[in-house]
Amino acid sequence: MRILLLGLPGAGKGTQAQFLIDRYRIPQISTGDMLRAAMKANSPLGNEVRGYMDRGALVPDHLVIELVKERIKAPDCKTGFIMDGFPRTLPQAEALRQAGIDINFVIEIEVGDGEILRRMSGRRVHLTSGRSYHIEFKPPRVPGKDDVTGEPLIQRSDDNEDTVKRRIQTYHEQTKPLINYYLSWASSGDPRAPHYVNIYGRGSVEHIRDKIFAAIESHTARIQGNEK
Ligand code: AP5
Repeated sequence: MRILLLGLPGAGKGTQAQFLIDRYRIPQISTGDMLRAAMKANSPLGNEVRGYMDRGALVPDHLVIELVKERIKAPDCKTGFIMDGFPRTLPQAEALRQAGIDINFVIEIEVGDGEILRRMSGRRVHLTSGRSYHIEFKPPRVPGKDDVTGEPLIQRSDDNEDTVKRRIQTYHEQTKPLINYYLSWASSGDPRAPHYVNIYGRGSVEHIRDKIFAAIESHTARIQGNEK
């Protein structure tokens, strides 16, 4: 199963990806996590992207497209993957399509801009795994520590209010057009087109998780019923 998560920064893509990993046993491909790991390692890629990420701008398309194409070749992606944060521009989506990497589900998690600012100020992350928490809405079992490893949680450098506002603006300008791109592809009758799902992203993380599972599973059952 190949799933693509779409939504504003802070909509809950990373949070829901963790549930999808457990349910479907497929890996998460988070371009944000991959780029942060490159920065932490001070690799040439990390040094090239640092400026873009720190100011809430998107990293140039060719860099992320190459990163994702390489990642998808790994054996753990054979049975599927969850794309979190990619594609984020029309050229990225086209690159995926031209490469023949078909997606089963595009899941848009819809949350208003005001809610995002509230969420980001309380977010704490475990950098190595990408697991994210919220001091109020999804607190770790031990304050300041990752539930799985017990390692310290940090606040991301791009989670300050000014950068979050710029990231929201970047989403509206460059990523939001993907909604129409996938909606019109989904309704075109093309058998390669992904199924598009819109999920309202306010409510408990478990409630949103259940809505996503229900959407995936009802569509899968319908397809399997039609094939019989
Ligand atoms: P990236 O790391 O992808 O960040 P993002 O898209 O901005 O998304 P986030 O990780 O901030 O949010 P999320 O939706 O995963 O929310 P989360 O689940 O953590 O990208 C960072 C940067 O990398 C970009 O700005 C860009 O520079 C670069 N980049 C990455 N990919 C790129 C690409 N393809 N092309 C070019 N550049 C790229 O949740 C947020 C908070 O809310 C958490 O605290 C969580 O606990 C809480 N929360 C979650 N759900 C709920 C809920 N239902 N109710 C209350 N709180 C909730």
